[in-house]
Amino acid sequence: MSISYLNGEWQAVEEAKISVLDRGFLFGDGVYEVIPVYKKKPFTLDLHLKRLNDSLKEIKLSNPRTTQEWTDLIMEGIERSGEQNAALYLQITRGADTKRNFVYPEKVVHTVFMMVSAASILERKVIKPYHFITLEDFRWNKGHIKSISLIAAGMIKNEAITQGADDAVLIKNGKVTECSAANIFIVLNGALITPPKSKYLLQGITRDQIIKVAISGGIKVEEREITPEELKQADEMFMTRSTHEAWPVGSLDGKPIGNGEAGVVWQEVDRLFQALKSEADS
Ligand code: PDD
Repeated sequence: MSISYLNGEWQAVEEAKISVLDRGFLFGDGVYEVIPVYKKKPFTLDLHLKRLNDSLKEIKLSNPRTTQEWTDLIMEGIERSGEQNAALYLQITRGADTKRNFVYPEKVVHTVFMMVSAASILERKVIKPYHFITLEDFRWNKGHIKSISLIAAGMIKNEAITQGADDAVLIKNGKVTECSAANIFIVLNGALITPPKSKYLLQGITRDQIIKVAISGGIKVEEREITPEELKQADEMFMTRSTHEAWPVGSLDGKPIGNGEAGVVWQEVDRLFQALKSEADS
């Protein structure tokens, strides 16, 4: 069951309403997190709450709750949803002002919104590699902020779909950044490679967990720039995202990557990641 929380009220998601003067609605003035929930437990919650705090700091919006208050709210949301495996969406905006005004209001009453929805994909019954294309990364230079202003991501995702693909690998200034809403990894010459953290991409929490388990499993990991040429030569490719974990990519711009199936390095990091999840659960 999908459940939502809006400024103190619990209700069905379709029932939740905000003011048209909400700065989130008018300006996309807010930040968000998507937290995976396994067996009713939020996974890597501390890292998501830290990134939420970092995003709030970047947009100069105070954090309306303490870590304990967020934890309590999140646990209540999971409990009320009744879901085992879920995606928990949390959004904070700078709230409603008395008129449309680019200047931040002096007194902010935050809008706090949360919804918990079933995420059957996290049960991972079928793993079918995605098809990606490459597109120009025309987004802004504050990609490390998990901002709700997501029109560029929507444009990219929909362009990929129009071209018959699932998503795009993005190229900015001749370097790979990430995907519309996921980080990217390639396997090349035996190394697992992902672009370094920068203001051009979101510092994905799944990305960091995958790097951690890969290193622990003896896989050579490189956090470095990837050129479009290297992307074409990749033996394997996968994306990482809280709602998908690590997910293989079978083709790029219509050409198969490796044999087009999930690769051996992906299989190994996925195995290690599943083990990490089980550890977190015990
Ligand atoms: N998106 N890069 C971008 C631009 C993203 O929007 C996301 C996540 C990621 C992966 O981050 P993480 O591993 O912490 O989920 C990378 C979320 C899930 C979304 O917008 O739905």
